[in-house]
Amino acid sequence: MANAVVIGAQWGDEGKAKVIDYMTERADVVVRFQGGANAGHTVNAGGRRYVFHLVPSGIITPGKVCVVGSGVVFDAEQFLAEVDELAEAGISVADRLFISDLAHLVLPYHKALDAASESAPGAVKIGTTGRGIGPAYTDKVSRTGIRVGDLLNWNVFLKKFIRNNDAAKLRVQTPDGKPAGDIPDLDEDEIITRYHKIRERLLPFIKDTAFYLFNAERDGMRLLFEGAQGTFLDVDHGTYPFVTSSNTTVGGACAGSGVGPKSIGHCIGIVKTYTTRVGNGPFPTELTDDIGFHLRATGNEFGSTTGRPRRCGWFDSLLVKKAVQLNGFTRLALTKLDVLNDLSEIKICVGYNIDGKKVDQYPTNAQELEYAKPIYETMPGWKQDISKCKKLSELPNAATDYIARIQKLCYDVPVLLISVGPDRADTIEVAGI
Ligand code: IMP
Repeated sequence: MANAVVIGAQWGDEGKAKVIDYMTERADVVVRFQGGANAGHTVNAGGRRYVFHLVPSGIITPGKVCVVGSGVVFDAEQFLAEVDELAEAGISVADRLFISDLAHLVLPYHKALDAASESAPGAVKIGTTGRGIGPAYTDKVSRTGIRVGDLLNWNVFLKKFIRNNDAAKLRVQTPDGKPAGDIPDLDEDEIITRYHKIRERLLPFIKDTAFYLFNAERDGMRLLFEGAQGTFLDVDHGTYPFVTSSNTTVGGACAGSGVGPKSIGHCIGIVKTYTTRVGNGPFPTELTDDIGFHLRATGNEFGSTTGRPRRCGWFDSLLVKKAVQLNGFTRLALTKLDVLNDLSEIKICVGYNIDGKKVDQYPTNAQELEYAKPIYETMPGWKQDISKCKKLSELPNAATDYIARIQKLCYDVPVLLISVGPDRADTIEVAGI
């Protein structure tokens, strides 16, 4: 397999972790390159369910190396909790899990700032995961952030931490506008004591990971880049301001891991066969009726990071077409097809009506998207369980017609696989890679 990057084609939660797990067999090194503990990557393997927020999900495959790249905002406490859970499951990470020294730390004050900005009177409520992501990236871009590599020298870390924590105390306010500086997330002494211990445990993981990846590739190792969130949460190309704070599209893989574009061969778009979104922001095909509830219940559409119910709706081809344009997908992986099993008819959005005009391209203007009314095509459902199907030829005609229609609408990008259930085994392989 050539190196590959896996990117969500919608608003995240497309089932990327299952595809990454599947692709990991063909790779040597799995790399996270953006986002942080806002991601929730669930893998069902060997009768066990793993949920990863920071550690690349490739870690459960023996012998694979996993890298947390420079573009990630790194929550050390979450990371160590995952390392502990892996140890409990008998999975050792020694010498095969590395963190970039350039990744920025998410510290407790970032979470306090995240909560404060979501509850500030008059602020636009993004509906964040509360994991401190926006404030950590804000510090990075405003050049006041603290990097993982700063932990190598405790005094350097300490000085920067106290400066930033004190500044946060002034910025976090109660709803009536008073400084709220004594909340636990800003308790300087307690955090310093905690981080002194955390530092000891983290030191063996810290590396110049860009150099490691450069050499790994020269040695013939195959790299798999694991995207988090989805295309329309990208800070540039997504439904701004209802986005996350990183580049979730393919370019983020180079910037966030320190490899050149030639290191990326395939770009695999993970496409859920309906649409979901967590948090606020426009969602033209959202269903607030019984079908929306049915999709949520059947697809277990609840956030794996926050437990929030996901908003559900029909497949939106304008969205995925745009994702193909932005990422240059070379393969699509279609997920959760089995969730549609019981529906007698299935709709696909093929255009929007915006102010009386029919459009067939996703509008970059967020206001237009708010008012867009979907134009649907209706297809018959298959009304049978497909989760045991192992080959394309075993799927009912209505299901293959639905897949073919999605593919046609999305520039005919070849379909790599179709997921028909949560387990590794519930996968139909279609095209090679
Ligand atoms: P933040 O990334 O926590 O700042 O949240 C910004 C927006 O991105 C919110 O709408 C979140 O619900 C959404 N979001 C962040 N991470 C994920 C994810 O992994 N899956 C789906 N939505 C996410």
